[in-house]
Amino acid sequence: MKAIIPAAGLGTRFLPATKAVPKEMLLVADRPAIQYVVEEGLASAADEVVIVNSREKRAIEEHFSPNPELVALLRERGKNEYADVVEYVGNLNVTYVYQDEALGLGHAVLCAADACAGEPFYVLLGDVLVPNNNMLPAMQEVSDAHGGASVIAVMPVPDEEVSRFGVIAGAEVSDGVWKIDALVEKPALEDAPSNLAVFGRYLLTPRVMELLSDVKPGVGGEIQLTDALDALLAEEEMYALVIDPKDGFDTGTVSSWLDTNNVLFNRK
Ligand code: G1P
Repeated sequence: MKAIIPAAGLGTRFLPATKAVPKEMLLVADRPAIQYVVEEGLASAADEVVIVNSREKRAIEEHFSPNPELVALLRERGKNEYADVVEYVGNLNVTYVYQDEALGLGHAVLCAADACAGEPFYVLLGDVLVPNNNMLPAMQEVSDAHGGASVIAVMPVPDEEVSRFGVIAGAEVSDGVWKIDALVEKPALEDAPSNLAVFGRYLLTPRVMELLSDVKPGVGGEIQLTDALDALLAEEEMYALVIDPKDGFDTGTVSSWLDTNNVLFNRK
């Protein structure tokens, strides 16, 4: 089973910082943001992380490649602690596929279809960090309890934020678990069926990959993962797990990235 991390975006909201440095490589407390996400993927039932990269963002691949020269130099200088972290990060089980055009999140996920080989898969959005790695196992439990159904993480958000997210409609079937009836990408507040926003973690059945190849551009002219999931509801059950806001950290805007840095740095 694979964990897919889409990372080909332009990082527009962080310009000019992201002109030369991929947004995913920005520091959060003590490591680049994407390292948390890779570590979370590898701590789950996934055996490998597949990063959907753009060919311009070489720094991500350099970060996860071995660098024996640097390790040797650090050891020679007695900096074993640093040598260990460099060695560790270069040995994480990460592979890459490429998204050559920014056609949307759904398109990015579809780029990893071959790597998933017809198996269920996770999608982890890099804007959201889950440093205690507890969310995917909890989602897997919900899926197991419902015959292997797809499960997505959702979080209640205030009214003024619903139009930034995918939003679900459904009914609570057990404590914190909703059976989903519909999903809408970035609805206007008056059209939002609930305040439960899709929060960047998905456990999906392989049928999603097939449906994605038929999805037409939606909100923002982009191929939306949310639209494929809404189409899946005609064929399969899908569940949402309401997550504790203490477990997930948004880094999608400069201000939420700064807040997350503060919290995680002080927690060390
Ligand atoms: C994406 C998804 C959206 C989800 C959000 C979570 O939107 O399309 O459904 O709620 O991530 O962060 P984006 O933030 O890429 O616009």
